[in-house]
Amino acid sequence: MSKNFYTEAVEAPDNADDITLRPPDLSEFAGQEKVKERLGLMIEAAKGRGDVLEHVLLCGPPGLGKTTLAHIIAAATGGALHSTSGPQIEKAGDLAGVLTNLKRGDVLFIDEIHRLHPAIEEYLYPAMEDYRLDIIIDQGPNARTIELSLPRFTLVGATTRAGMLTAPLRSRFTMTNRLDYYTAEELAKIVRRSAGLLGARVDADGALEVAKRARGTPRVANALLRWARDYAQVKADGVVTGEVADLALAMIDIDADGFDEMDKRILEALVYKFEGGPVGVNSLAVAVGEDASTIEEVYEPYLIMQGMLARTPRGRVAMREAYLKIGAEPRRGPGAEPELDLGGPP
Ligand SMILES: Nc1ncnc2c1ncn2[C@@H]1O[C@H](COP(=O)(O)OP(=O)(O)O)[C@@H](O)[C@H]1O
Ligand SMILES: [Mg+2]
Repeated sequence: MSKNFYTEAVEAPDNADDITLRPPDLSEFAGQEKVKERLGLMIEAAKGRGDVLEHVLLCGPPGLGKTTLAHIIAAATGGALHSTSGPQIEKAGDLAGVLTNLKRGDVLFIDEIHRLHPAIEEYLYPAMEDYRLDIIIDQGPNARTIELSLPRFTLVGATTRAGMLTAPLRSRFTMTNRLDYYTAEELAKIVRRSAGLLGARVDADGALEVAKRARGTPRVANALLRWARDYAQVKADGVVTGEVADLALAMIDIDADGFDEMDKRILEALVYKFEGGPVGVNSLAVAVGEDASTIEEVYEPYLIMQGMLARTPRGRVAMREAYLKIGAEPRRGPGAEPELDLGGPP
């Protein structure tokens, strides 16, 4: 299976660069104005009352800043950050271990919270609502429940798949924040900031060129920046100009719109092999040789936002833009206007 810049960038979270480049507070966090405003207000209000911040859910595709915001929240509220993830909590005992280590005002960050085991989720409800943990000890007729009281803490949940969260869990968060893809201008700002931190020389055109090709994603922008910096050092005079960025990105097969080989393979399979769809994501995944979950979480959201692909009740379909992108003749006649499913999760 071929790896490329995008999947590597988004599937290698929390690498050393992520940590160096992570903005420490909301003022350095670019974009997502609504999210910042709401979070900032909630934090200020809780602090003013001497209260602990309520639970916050962060949703959105990988690399948009969910983990970064969890760190920012902990720093702003003064709580210690405890990080874990849905798949890491295998048994109720794992959760109990995490919860009983918390102190008042601490932030518990659960990444990929949609992957929590349902049985474990049930333990989380009273912990979130009443700061109480009910533990069952012994089995059969001797089984008893003991109740532990927990200090007030803030749960920050992150998910790439908001639609997969159960309603009871979702309802226990006071605030849900959806992170959106960033504009090229916002990403250019992030690239300039990162360049400063990395000591990379990038001019305004270079920053914008990298930004435009980063799929709306800060983590991708930072990965492309590093590549462009290396390229500039070896092949040019060390400065990432617009032209240098263009050559650098062409060398790793990222086109002027920021599409890579896998995007094109997906669109080509959809248009030629499956005649425009509808086709199920698993068949599509097999056809292009990529994991279905990577297609769903990394590639599709961006292709959908670009108006190239749509999810319908019967499967994925190619939109007119997709045909144009790969230089195919758009489909006409029945089925050319797919029935759209705007109802939410896949
Ligand atoms: N709004 C932002 N401003 C500046 N840098 C950002 C922003 N959002 C994300 N980043 C950068 O992108 C990297 C990836 O973000 P991260 O929080 O790990 O994403 P997620 O957890 O959503 O996958 C961070 O380390 C940070 O350097
Ligand atoms: Mg993360």
